[in-house]
This record gives sequence, structure tokens and C-alpha cells, in this order.
Amino acid sequence: MKTLTLVRPDDWHLHVRNGALLKAVLPHTARQFGRAIIMPNLKPPVTSVEQALAYREEILRALPQGMAFTPLMTLYLTGSTSVEEIGKAARCEHVYAFKLYPAGATTHSDAGIADVRSAYPLFAAMEKHDVPLLIHGEVTDEQCDIFDRERVFVDTALTGIAGHFPGLRIVVEHVTTREAVQFVESASERIAATITPQHLMFNRNALLAGGIRPHHYCLPVLKRESHRQALVAAATGGNPKFFLGTDSAPHLTSLKENACGCAGCFSAPAALELYAEVFESAGALDKLEAFASFHGADFYRLPRNTGTVTLTKTSWEVPAVYRGEDNVAITPLKAGEQLSWQLKV
Ligand code: DOR
Ligand code: ZN
Repeated sequence: MKTLTLVRPDDWHLHVRNGALLKAVLPHTARQFGRAIIMPNLKPPVTSVEQALAYREEILRALPQGMAFTPLMTLYLTGSTSVEEIGKAARCEHVYAFKLYPAGATTHSDAGIADVRSAYPLFAAMEKHDVPLLIHGEVTDEQCDIFDRERVFVDTALTGIAGHFPGLRIVVEHVTTREAVQFVESASERIAATITPQHLMFNRNALLAGGIRPHHYCLPVLKRESHRQALVAAATGGNPKFFLGTDSAPHLTSLKENACGCAGCFSAPAALELYAEVFESAGALDKLEAFASFHGADFYRLPRNTGTVTLTKTSWEVPAVYRGEDNVAITPLKAGEQLSWQLKV
């Protein structure tokens, strides 16, 4: 039997929500990953160190007995974030970064930053305290075609931020375009990017394959095939600037299969297996471990994990739905489909 053993990976971009949803989704991540960067876009958002610490406690309480998993907390930047809070975050051992959501760009982003330049004093404080800035890189101009929003953000905002703050560490989250990949590749080593499984597996045709496919809808939206190929080349090319970040973003099935379906793919149950399929198709399984287990830890200046996980070449079917308390039902990415690698537990 073919097996693949990796140093335990980490997920550098993850939504675990709170309440019953948190309890339903967290074990899926904890069985695969040692740590995860936890997104702060709750309702209301996690904007202070105090809130981040309370959220961290809730996550640890939701962790099944015997599972070791470390949540790495982040704070949500708003127009009211203070320079003092950035200093406080820098001193807190559990807070690892700030997340910039352009206001209106995505799920629960209304409290985000309306004008990126207005946040420059905050970026200066992050640069000074060496706290990484994680960016949802899309413009929010409704006149801008939704497929162009990332490319335009790279030109009109990201290049400016990177140039203005030469010491600021930046993660361009969930890159989806050739232009974002090229920006990261040509930038200095303090600029990196996460890549999701869905953007590696699918192009935008998957949104409209014989009908509307709400479980393939996420933001930034899937792009055309040439972009997907650029992402696969970046992920599998061994460049330490690119690392695993699932952006697993669970929503109730009823809110995805809806006249106005929510953005987000729930990839956590099969996250590592999904990446393994992509790397195998690209003939680059030997590059999976560095992408999943080394590059992110090195960028965040954290020790690499010490344990291992093993995948076997076994066909299995992704369940149609995952259920939890309080009538939680969530449809995973690739529901009802076969995967060819399986994590051994
Ligand atoms: O598809 C997405 N879902 N993209 C995001 O940026 C946010 C996320 C969510 O929180 O649901
Ligand atoms: Zn996200």
C-alpha cells in the first residue's frame, strides 16, 4: 500500500466560527493539523486582545479530549483599531497577526477598512512591532468586475502597502490569480501567500457545471483555468513564500443552498487529502510536506511541528453532510465524491 508520511502540518488560514458550529468543525482540523491561524470575522468581530483570548478559550473548550491543537489568534482591523491595541497584540503570546478585510469584501467584513490608506498608521505600528498583516486582497468597488477584484487590489493597494512599509511582514491570503502570485514571487521574502484547496482544484466553470454549484462559491471567487494553473505551479514549486491555508469557511447547508448563498467552502474534513490530490496530479507529491508543514511555520517564525501524519492511497467517499448539535448540518467540499488519499488515524 502506498503511504505518505509528513511532519504534522498547520493550517495558516482557517475559520472555525463559534458556538455549535465551532464544536462541529474543530475536530476535523485538529485531527490533521497541529496549529491554525484563526480568522477573526465573527459577528461581532474579534477586535481586541481580550476578545481574542476569550475566543481562544472557547476554541480550547470545544476541542475533544485528548486532541492536541493550538489555535493561533488574530485580530480584525477596523477603523477604530488603536495603535495601543497593536502594541498589546505584539506583547500577547497567543496573538499572531492582524487581518485586513476591505469593508464589504466578504463574509462579516462590514466592520473592515473602507479606505486602505486610512489604515497606514496602523500598518506602521505593525511594522514597528513586527506583527504580520494578513490581507484579504480584493477591491470592493461594485463597478469592478468580480473576477478582476484581486488583480486590481494588487495594483491599487497591495503594491503601495508593500512599498510604504518595507519591514512589514504580509501574507496575501488565499491568492487566486496569476497577478497575485507574480506579485508575491517578485516581492521581498517578508511577503508570502496562502493557497486554498478549492482554488488549486477548480476553475470558475465549477461554479456553473450543469447548474449553480453553491458549495464551490467562495471569495475571492474561483478564476479561469490559466490562473488555477499559476496557483498549482506556485504551490508545488517549492517556493517557501507559498504555504497551506485552507480558508475552510463553514456555513450551514441551508445558508449555502439559498437564493443568496453564503461564500465559503467547508474543506476542513478532507483538507490534507484534497491538497494531496492536487500535488499528485502535478507530479509533485515530494513538495507537499514543505508546503503543508514547513513554509508557514518558518514564515511565522514558529518551530516546525514534531509529530507526523500519514496518508494512505485509499479511495473513500466524502460524506454528503456533517452534523452537529443544534441542528447544525454542513456540506463539505467534494461531498459525495471519491478521494484517493486518506489520512490514517
Ligand atoms: O469565501 C469566503 N468565506 N471568503 C472569505 O473571505 C470569508 C469566508 C467566510 O468567513 O465565510
Ligand atoms: Zn478566510
